[in-house]
Amino acid sequence: MTSLAGHPGYGQTVAKIILFGEHSVVYGHPAVAMPLQSLKMTAEVEPSDGPGTLAGLGWSGPLDKAPARFSSIIRAAEVASAFAGHAGAHLHITTDAGFPAERGLGSSAAAAGAVIRAVLDAFDAPATPDEIFTLTQQAERVAHGRPSGLDAVATSADGPVHFRGGVVTELDVSPDAWIVIADSGIQGSTRETVGHVRARYEADPDSVGAVLARLGDITDEVIALLHERDTPAIGRRATEAHRLLASLGVSNDRLDILVNAALSAGALGAKLTGGGRGGCVIAFADSEESAHRIEHAFVTAGAAGTWVHAPEPGSLAGEVAR
Ligand code: PMV
Repeated sequence: MTSLAGHPGYGQTVAKIILFGEHSVVYGHPAVAMPLQSLKMTAEVEPSDGPGTLAGLGWSGPLDKAPARFSSIIRAAEVASAFAGHAGAHLHITTDAGFPAERGLGSSAAAAGAVIRAVLDAFDAPATPDEIFTLTQQAERVAHGRPSGLDAVATSADGPVHFRGGVVTELDVSPDAWIVIADSGIQGSTRETVGHVRARYEADPDSVGAVLARLGDITDEVIALLHERDTPAIGRRATEAHRLLASLGVSNDRLDILVNAALSAGALGAKLTGGGRGGCVIAFADSEESAHRIEHAFVTAGAAGTWVHAPEPGSLAGEVAR
């Protein structure tokens, strides 16, 4: 009798937000995304000699009966098992998400990344960050066709990541601000809004191209402002980016109401994040008190959920908070 290969394995990733550059990034302009270390996605896998099972994200049952929304998790387990030299391994997979799916918070890349890490752990298979990135992209391709790679990197990065022309690098600064995130409660459709912007661009390349170029310039300016720790100026760029994205038709009344509620509550700036027409809004605040006032305003304006992201230790606002 052969003993079962592997042992229980564990993997963890986090949520992400796009700070600046959604939509314009599709046209080659730069973007900056940031991991939210407090919003975790965890996965546990246990090698089994019977058929595989899956539990998490509101569903549990045999792997081969899992709904389509789990296709990238299942692919993640397959590619990671093969990488670990155990192709076709039967696994019990459990995922636990500390944040909602389908809100532009990177839930699918985070889930795939957590499962991949758990499988590699279960089979004691070491992998470099580049190898894990490649595996995550293989899994994400099932759900998203041609993922940019931004989510795969940002959901496991230590700090903000910069994306330009298909190359993702980690930034050496993070915002010296409190970032308040509000869930609109509406499922965004990135595919739909990307298609909408494409149609607008094809109908009027000059003026839509100018808006996209300005969004790209805003991202570049923000990277300089992050180094200068000029949070009020970053806030102003956020509100400008929201107005530009709205002019492209990717906002909606709910997102505009949330942005305006944050600004009325004293935010330095606010914008939608991700594909738009749903998903989340982010607001920048210069103190913990301000962040909580904005959070309250978001709830009053009907947000389905809110999170407050404190500045990283070492940034000026983070020191004030301690
Ligand atoms: O909604 P999210 O977080 O998946 O972000 C979409 C970002 C877009 O720029 C709108 C599309 C893309 O592929 O970059």
